[in-house]
Amino acid sequence: MTKPLLRALAGEAVWPPPVWLMRQAGRYLPEYRAVRAEAGDFIALCTSPALAAEVTLQPIRRYGMDAAILFSDILMLPWALGHGLRFAEGEGPMLPPLRDAAALAALDPGRVPDAIAPILETVRRVRAELDATRPGQTALIGFAGAPFTVACYMVEGHGSKEFAAVRGMAYRDPALFGGLMDLLTEATIVYLAAQIEAGAEAVMLFDSWAGVLPPGLFRAHVIAPAARVVAALRERYPAVPVIGFPRLGGLLLAEYARATGVQGLGLDTTVDPAIASRLIPGPVALQGNLDPLALEAGGEPMREATRTILAAMRGRPFVFNLGHGIVPSTAPAHVAELMDLLRGA
Ligand code: CP3
Repeated sequence: MTKPLLRALAGEAVWPPPVWLMRQAGRYLPEYRAVRAEAGDFIALCTSPALAAEVTLQPIRRYGMDAAILFSDILMLPWALGHGLRFAEGEGPMLPPLRDAAALAALDPGRVPDAIAPILETVRRVRAELDATRPGQTALIGFAGAPFTVACYMVEGHGSKEFAAVRGMAYRDPALFGGLMDLLTEATIVYLAAQIEAGAEAVMLFDSWAGVLPPGLFRAHVIAPAARVVAALRERYPAVPVIGFPRLGGLLLAEYARATGVQGLGLDTTVDPAIASRLIPGPVALQGNLDPLALEAGGEPMREATRTILAAMRGRPFVFNLGHGIVPSTAPAHVAELMDLLRGA
């Protein structure tokens, strides 16, 4: 029996739709906070297969989502390439800003296989557990940051609203920026292929900052690398679907879907689901896009926003999700209520 998520990503209008939630494992769950405290630091959690597998499975045990997403982070790839990374309490990720050719030359793709070994072990453990406990139901999604979003953090050195340093580099030093993007694109292909070999049944490319780029740079640094990743994976794993999430891609979403060949397209919170459904016909599965703050608010506003999305997506391939990650202040009971509503759709 094919799992509902994989049927939807193969172009089938599964109803009620399969559901999972971005950041479904995380600080809003008390059982996550307990494991996080046990691990100490966030990178230690991501590189401990037993603990990372446990937190990957926590939301599945509580709510029975149709997908588990590997517990890791998009910044574990720069970490594996030898770029420094730390998660400062309350500040988010901190990396040494990559600003010159010497810093680019210091990245070492040769380190990646050993560095990602514990993450691949997490994938194997989660897949084995899902096969044993939720056969035919919950699929395992692997993921990576898309090259542009990963470059944003590497060049800037931390989070930002504008990512001015990375955009400046794309204009002023296209050779350096292009070199970084090429290296990240190749490393992303290696990383996702390894996750598929270890048991991931679908993979997602998170391009959280795609929306800071003007159209020309969006085509060059969001669409083109995603197309390269999809083509490389398609050649080796024709049955494994890729979900692209070019967040805040706006008017370029349809072009992204067409030009990259993704099977699934993640919609962010700003997208009108009815318009997206017209612009992006099946077989591409749309995924999204309840406002995480509607989930946090709960009650009738959450139900109303959910019904609007369901009405727009009925009859087409669709995967219910949020438009961005769950916020830590979300009450676990609101997630339970959302799941009940969707199961009864
Ligand atoms: O449940 C899941 O979705 C799987 C795990 C996952 C995490 N990060 C865990 C995490 C996934 C898929 C990500 C992706 C990720 N990481 C993205 C793309 C999606 C998005 O949200 O836009 C980005 C941009 C990152 C980078 C990142 N990681 C930031 C900016 C932060 C700090 C912000 C924050 O929420 O603390 C992280 C840390 C992080 N990644 C946490 C989790 C659960 C919180 C760390 C903690 O427990 O202290």
